Amino acid sequence: MAKKKSGKRKRAQEEDIALDYDDNKSNQPGATANTTFLPLTGQCHHYRKVGEVPFDIQKYWHQRHSIFSEYDAGIQMTDDAWFGVTPEPVANQIATDLSLRAPDEKTTIIDIFAGAGGNAIAFALSERWTNIIAIEKDASTLACAQHNAAIYGVSEFITWVNADCFSYLSENRSTIDASSTVIFASPPWGGVTYSNTEIFDLSTMHPYSIQEIHKACTDMYSVLYLPRHSDLRQVAKLAPKDKKIDIVQYCMKGASKALVAYVPASST
Ligand SMILES: C[S@@+](CC[C@H](N)C(=O)[O-])C[C@H]1O[C@@H](n2cnc3c(N)ncnc32)[C@H](O)[C@@H]1O
Repeated sequence: MAKKKSGKRKRAQEEDIALDYDDNKSNQPGATANTTFLPLTGQCHHYRKVGEVPFDIQKYWHQRHSIFSEYDAGIQMTDDAWFGVTPEPVANQIATDLSLRAPDEKTTIIDIFAGAGGNAIAFALSERWTNIIAIEKDASTLACAQHNAAIYGVSEFITWVNADCFSYLSENRSTIDASSTVIFASPPWGGVTYSNTEIFDLSTMHPYSIQEIHKACTDMYSVLYLPRHSDLRQVAKLAPKDKKIDIVQYCMKGASKALVAYVPASST
């Protein structure tokens, strides 16, 4: 189980968060020896008033307290991160469901598209995982995630990796223990037009198709966070022989936010 400070969220002071420090987690499968805490950049914002918020983000900003209950403590977001962040109640429910579903031998979770940290924070708060690795290729977004995790008191329980997740998985293939690892993937869905069709064709998901993502983690238990109207026939095709995929719709206020596919590993 992950260690967590006396069960209570420790709200970090803003000035502490941007400091670089090394945290030796070299015992973690596939983890880099050190986690560097990146500085917030000019791309990172904590919008306080609607007048500061770019027009296309305002509808998300109005839901800021549903997205992060600790928003007012100084949550930081890049403008792009608003479109993809998993709202806190959904992230917490997924973390709870995964804790119950994942076999006991699964002790490491790798969040390969960490974004602003919505899911990684929930996984850390669940205290289910010995190792949590969060990968994000955009340095400003990763800095937001680290900062936001610090607000929830869990930043030091996550190994942060600023990298392309596909390169990371292939380069660390020899040290990642597939039998004890779960991959969580909440990929970009291709922009706001993803919802324009009745059934979402996952093979056209941009920039990574479902097949490409699945191929990168097929030997590991994987959890895929996908558009609510995803083509279920395409999801079903990911099932290893003689195994089943569980699919759960996650709703807030009666509306589905996403579907999550719990995909067994091909080999274990
Ligand atoms: C939908 S968002 C993830 C949101 C996240 N679950 C959260 O709650 O904040 C997808 C993220 O994946 C990142 N990303 C896209 N391609 C990537 C790659 N190849 N490797 C790592 N991160 C990537 C994007 O920069 C973006 O922040």
